[in-house]
Amino acid sequence: MNDRPYKVFKIDNGTVIDHISSRMALKIIDILKVQEQGIISIGINFNSKKIDKKDIIKIENVYLDKKETDLIALLSPNSTINIVKDGIVIEKRKIDMPKEIEGIIKCPNPMCVTNTYHDCSTKFIVVRYDEASTILRCYYCERETPVLPMLIQ
Ligand code: CTP
Ligand code: ZN
Repeated sequence: MNDRPYKVFKIDNGTVIDHISSRMALKIIDILKVQEQGIISIGINFNSKKIDKKDIIKIENVYLDKKETDLIALLSPNSTINIVKDGIVIEKRKIDMPKEIEGIIKCPNPMCVTNTYHDCSTKFIVVRYDEASTILRCYYCERETPVLPMLIQ
Protein backbone atom coordinates (compact mmCIF):
# COMPACT_ATOMS: atom_id res chain seq x y z
CA MET A 1 0.00 0.00 0.00
CA ASN A 2 2.97 2.34 0.44
CA ASP A 3 3.26 2.99 -3.29
CA ARG A 4 -0.46 3.48 -3.77
CA PRO A 5 -0.91 6.50 -6.08
CA TYR A 6 -2.76 9.40 -4.49
CA LYS A 7 -6.15 10.25 -5.86
CA VAL A 8 -8.18 13.39 -5.81
CA PHE A 9 -10.80 13.32 -8.54
CA LYS A 10 -9.86 15.07 -11.78
CA ILE A 11 -12.00 18.08 -12.46
CA ASP A 12 -13.77 19.20 -15.62
CA ASN A 13 -13.36 22.94 -15.10
CA GLY A 14 -11.57 25.12 -12.60
CA THR A 15 -8.21 25.76 -10.94
CA VAL A 16 -5.76 23.18 -9.58
CA ILE A 17 -3.04 24.45 -7.24
CA ASP A 18 -0.35 21.76 -7.20
CA HIS A 19 3.02 21.23 -5.45
CA ILE A 20 1.95 23.25 -2.41
CA SER A 21 4.46 23.16 0.46
CA SER A 22 3.23 20.56 2.90
CA ARG A 23 0.42 21.63 5.26
CA MET A 24 -0.07 25.09 3.69
CA ALA A 25 -3.29 24.17 1.83
CA LEU A 26 -5.74 25.34 4.48
CA LYS A 27 -3.98 28.69 4.95
CA ILE A 28 -3.91 29.18 1.18
CA ILE A 29 -7.66 28.65 1.05
CA ASP A 30 -7.99 31.35 3.74
CA ILE A 31 -5.83 33.75 1.71
CA LEU A 32 -7.73 33.14 -1.53
CA LYS A 33 -11.11 33.54 0.21
CA VAL A 34 -12.67 30.89 -2.02
CA GLN A 35 -14.51 28.89 0.66
CA GLU A 36 -17.90 30.03 -0.60
CA GLN A 37 -17.19 29.90 -4.31
CA GLY A 38 -17.27 26.33 -5.48
CA ILE A 39 -16.59 22.71 -4.71
CA ILE A 40 -13.10 22.45 -3.24
CA SER A 41 -11.07 19.24 -2.85
CA ILE A 42 -8.01 19.36 -0.65
CA GLY A 43 -5.17 16.84 -0.36
CA ILE A 44 -2.66 17.18 2.44
CA ASN A 45 0.73 15.44 2.74
CA PHE A 46 0.54 13.58 -0.55
CA ASN A 47 3.70 11.90 -1.79
CA SER A 48 5.32 13.87 -4.59
CA LYS A 49 8.09 13.22 -7.07
CA LYS A 50 9.17 16.88 -7.15
CA ILE A 51 9.05 17.78 -3.46
CA ASP A 52 9.09 15.69 -0.31
CA LYS A 53 5.41 15.95 0.58
CA LYS A 54 2.88 18.21 -1.02
CA ASP A 55 -0.60 19.56 -0.62
CA ILE A 56 -2.99 20.07 -3.51
CA ILE A 57 -6.16 22.12 -3.92
CA LYS A 58 -8.77 21.77 -6.68
CA ILE A 59 -11.42 24.47 -6.98
CA GLU A 60 -14.17 23.55 -9.41
CA ASN A 61 -15.70 26.11 -11.74
CA VAL A 62 -13.51 28.95 -10.43
CA TYR A 63 -10.74 30.42 -12.59
CA LEU A 64 -8.34 32.28 -10.37
CA ASP A 65 -6.46 35.09 -12.12
CA LYS A 66 -2.73 35.79 -11.86
CA LYS A 67 -3.16 38.53 -9.24
CA GLU A 68 -5.00 36.07 -7.00
CA THR A 69 -2.66 33.12 -7.51
CA ASP A 70 0.45 35.28 -6.90
CA LEU A 71 -0.73 35.65 -3.29
CA ILE A 72 0.09 31.95 -2.85
CA ALA A 73 3.78 32.98 -3.06
CA LEU A 74 3.48 34.26 0.52
CA LEU A 75 3.15 30.68 1.78
CA SER A 76 4.28 28.35 -0.98
CA PRO A 77 6.34 30.03 -3.74
CA ASN A 78 6.97 26.85 -5.74
CA SER A 79 3.35 25.90 -6.29
CA THR A 80 2.09 25.46 -9.84
CA ILE A 81 -1.27 26.67 -11.06
CA ASN A 82 -3.22 24.65 -13.62
CA ILE A 83 -6.29 26.10 -15.29
CA VAL A 84 -8.54 23.26 -16.48
CA LYS A 85 -11.25 23.64 -19.13
CA ASP A 86 -13.34 20.71 -20.37
CA GLY A 87 -11.01 18.30 -18.58
CA ILE A 88 -7.83 19.64 -20.25
CA VAL A 89 -5.07 21.72 -18.61
CA ILE A 90 -5.17 24.79 -20.86
CA GLU A 91 -2.76 26.91 -18.83
CA LYS A 92 0.12 26.02 -16.52
CA ARG A 93 1.18 29.10 -14.60
CA LYS A 94 4.07 29.90 -12.30
CA ILE A 95 3.53 32.26 -9.44
CA ASP A 96 5.51 35.45 -8.87
CA MET A 97 5.96 37.22 -5.56
CA PRO A 98 3.66 40.26 -5.47
CA LYS A 99 5.27 43.67 -4.76
CA GLU A 100 2.47 44.79 -2.43
CA ILE A 101 -0.14 42.97 -0.37
CA GLU A 102 -3.42 44.72 0.40
CA GLY A 103 -5.63 43.26 3.12
CA ILE A 104 -4.98 39.56 3.92
CA ILE A 105 -2.15 40.14 6.45
CA LYS A 106 -2.63 41.83 9.82
CA CYS A 107 0.01 44.25 11.09
CA PRO A 108 1.70 42.88 14.26
CA ASN A 109 2.10 46.41 15.71
CA PRO A 110 -0.86 47.01 18.06
CA MET A 111 -0.40 50.79 17.72
CA CYS A 112 -0.59 50.69 13.90
CA VAL A 113 -3.45 52.73 12.42
CA THR A 114 -4.69 49.54 10.73
CA ASN A 115 -5.31 48.07 14.21
CA THR A 116 -6.69 51.19 15.88
CA TYR A 117 -8.94 52.56 13.14
CA HIS A 118 -11.66 50.19 11.92
CA ASP A 119 -11.98 51.33 8.32
CA CYS A 120 -8.28 51.20 7.54
CA SER A 121 -7.29 48.06 5.64
CA THR A 122 -3.72 46.83 5.75
CA LYS A 123 -1.04 47.29 3.13
CA PHE A 124 2.47 45.81 3.06
CA ILE A 125 5.46 46.17 0.79
CA VAL A 126 7.43 42.96 0.11
CA VAL A 127 10.95 43.90 1.24
CA ARG A 128 12.80 40.65 0.55
CA TYR A 129 12.19 36.93 0.35
CA ASP A 130 13.99 33.63 0.02
CA GLU A 131 13.06 29.95 0.30
CA ALA A 132 12.72 30.22 4.07
CA SER A 133 10.73 33.40 4.63
CA THR A 134 9.13 36.50 3.19
CA ILE A 135 9.66 39.86 4.92
CA LEU A 136 6.98 42.53 4.65
CA ARG A 137 7.01 46.20 5.71
CA CYS A 138 3.78 47.86 6.81
CA TYR A 139 3.00 50.78 4.49
CA TYR A 140 1.58 52.75 7.44
CA CYS A 141 3.82 52.15 10.49
CA GLU A 142 6.88 50.68 8.71
CA ARG A 143 7.07 47.69 11.09
CA GLU A 144 8.82 44.78 9.36
CA THR A 145 7.53 41.26 9.86
CA PRO A 146 7.96 37.83 8.35
CA VAL A 147 4.77 36.27 6.97
CA LEU A 148 3.47 34.16 9.85
CA PRO A 149 0.32 32.03 9.51
CA MET A 150 -1.08 33.76 12.64
CA LEU A 151 -1.00 37.13 10.83
CA ILE A 152 -3.32 35.95 8.08
CA GLN A 153 -6.69 37.67 8.52
N1 CTP B 1 -5.84 17.84 -13.09
C1 CTP B 1 -7.15 17.72 -12.66
N2 CTP B 1 -8.17 17.59 -13.57
C2 CTP B 1 -7.91 17.56 -14.88
C3 CTP B 1 -6.57 17.66 -15.35
C4 CTP B 1 -5.55 17.80 -14.42
O1 CTP B 1 -7.42 17.76 -11.47
N3 CTP B 1 -8.92 17.41 -15.74
C5 CTP B 1 -4.76 17.98 -12.10
C6 CTP B 1 -3.84 16.76 -12.04
O2 CTP B 1 -4.36 15.82 -11.11
C7 CTP B 1 -2.54 17.38 -11.54
C8 CTP B 1 -2.59 18.82 -12.09
O3 CTP B 1 -3.94 19.07 -12.44
O4 CTP B 1 -2.52 17.44 -10.13
C9 CTP B 1 -1.71 19.00 -13.30
O5 CTP B 1 -2.10 18.09 -14.29
P1 CTP B 1 -1.09 17.60 -15.41
O6 CTP B 1 -0.46 18.79 -16.06
O7 CTP B 1 -1.82 16.64 -16.27
O8 CTP B 1 -0.07 16.76 -14.50
P2 CTP B 1 1.52 16.77 -14.48
O9 CTP B 1 2.06 16.63 -15.87
O10 CTP B 1 1.91 15.74 -13.48
O11 CTP B 1 1.83 18.23 -13.94
P3 CTP B 1 3.21 18.83 -13.44
O12 CTP B 1 4.20 18.71 -14.56
O13 CTP B 1 2.85 20.28 -13.14
O14 CTP B 1 3.58 18.07 -12.21
ZN1 ZN C 1 1.45 48.69 10.68
